[in-house]
Amino acid sequence: MEKMAIYPGSFDPFTSGHLDIVQRAVKIFPRLVVAVAVNVRKLPTFTVEERVAMLEETLSGMDRVEIDSFSGLLVDYARHKGAHVIVRGLRALSDFENEFQMAHMNRRLHPELETIFMMTSQEHFYVSSQTVKEVAFFNGDVSGVVPPAVLKRLNSRRQGGDGQ
Ligand code: PNS
Repeated sequence: MEKMAIYPGSFDPFTSGHLDIVQRAVKIFPRLVVAVAVNVRKLPTFTVEERVAMLEETLSGMDRVEIDSFSGLLVDYARHKGAHVIVRGLRALSDFENEFQMAHMNRRLHPELETIFMMTSQEHFYVSSQTVKEVAFFNGDVSGVVPPAVLKRLNSRRQGGDGQ
């Protein structure tokens, strides 16, 4: 049976740090589902449809990568997909506590589901969706830290004057 892993996230928007994790995870797992969460706890800047579209444009050449979205609990989505591995990226120590809590809660809810952490490459350590949006909003240059499909949308929001 081919091991499928899920890489879940808000991806609001997808950054070069996320891309780094996808490129490395796909070398380990024969199938990788990049799953956009319809996250009820966060008010997103981009709609799920926009986030999925940016992912599709960015990851279009990767045939072992599937793009999807889910709502509700991640463990239920993993069951539905038949996946037993969750991939998460870790940047600094500040990510750790939240990730630790999520991994343990998910394991409690679904004991067969394993969470694997990958260290973000050094050059992406400081990149987060939040900082990217803030810099872009104030007309800063984010061209090196987001894929072109994301840059395009960030720029169009900025020019349209309705960016958040
Ligand atoms: O990119 P993010 O915002 O760090 O991703 C967090 C995400 C979407 C993976 C997490 O919030 C999640 O799994 N949400 C789905 C709802 C869920 O299962 N919550 C319980 C987690 S213990």
